[in-house]
Amino acid sequence: MRDELRFIVLDGVEGCGKSTQIERLAAALREAGEDPVVTHEPGGTPVGEAIRSVLLSPEYPQMTVLTEILLFCASRAQHVQQVIIPALDEGSRVLCDRFSAATFAYQGYAGGGGAEMVEQLDARATGGLAPDLTIILDLPAEEGLRRKFGEQWREASALGDRIEQNDAEYHRLVREGFLAYADRCSERTAVIDADREPDEVFAELAGLLEL
Ligand SMILES: Nc1ncnc2c1ncn2[C@@H]1O[C@H](COP(=O)(O)OP(=O)(O)O)[C@@H](O)[C@H]1O
Ligand SMILES: [Mg+2]
Repeated sequence: MRDELRFIVLDGVEGCGKSTQIERLAAALREAGEDPVVTHEPGGTPVGEAIRSVLLSPEYPQMTVLTEILLFCASRAQHVQQVIIPALDEGSRVLCDRFSAATFAYQGYAGGGGAEMVEQLDARATGGLAPDLTIILDLPAEEGLRRKFGEQWREASALGDRIEQNDAEYHRLVREGFLAYADRCSERTAVIDADREPDEVFAELAGLLEL
């Protein structure tokens, strides 16, 4: 793999294949003799997992978008300090399922918090640490919901976590938000068409990373 890519993020709408592809990527790196740190947001630390449960619990439908941004950023601040920076300092490669792009797409774009507020708070949370590459797995939002919830996907509003429970229009905007992020941060972002078989998606990912 391209050696300069130390901190790699996979992101995209619900069900786009982040978990599937990150596992395959980690397996390929292990076969090549590496020991990557595989982590995720929100969460990735004990404090972060506690924040995650507040963020995703359907018990809090009243949560405002500013509260969401602050909680995602709180989880990220802890994750960066406790896990990501130490791993990079030790020379490990870090593979992370969701990061700043998700806050931009969900809270900034679909949730209406705005790019500037997300970018300011995110910059404080990361202390300026940016992924070397963010890979957006691009998929129509309803296809991702269908993958996760099957033919009952229209009822994701009753079946999913608090964020999945948002309406179809919100999820459509999340996809647009990821594409807007890719335009805004084009030098460190790549978009892959995830509306294909897992093998085809992985082949493109592997080519991009020169695995
Ligand atoms: N390329 C694909 N085509 C069809 N189904 C997929 C594909 N990638 C993943 N899946 C399936 O879709 C569901 C969601 O995938 P997952 O990797 O968990 O997505 P995410 O982590 O982005 O939410 C899982 O059941 C998974 O097996
Ligand atoms: Mg997942």
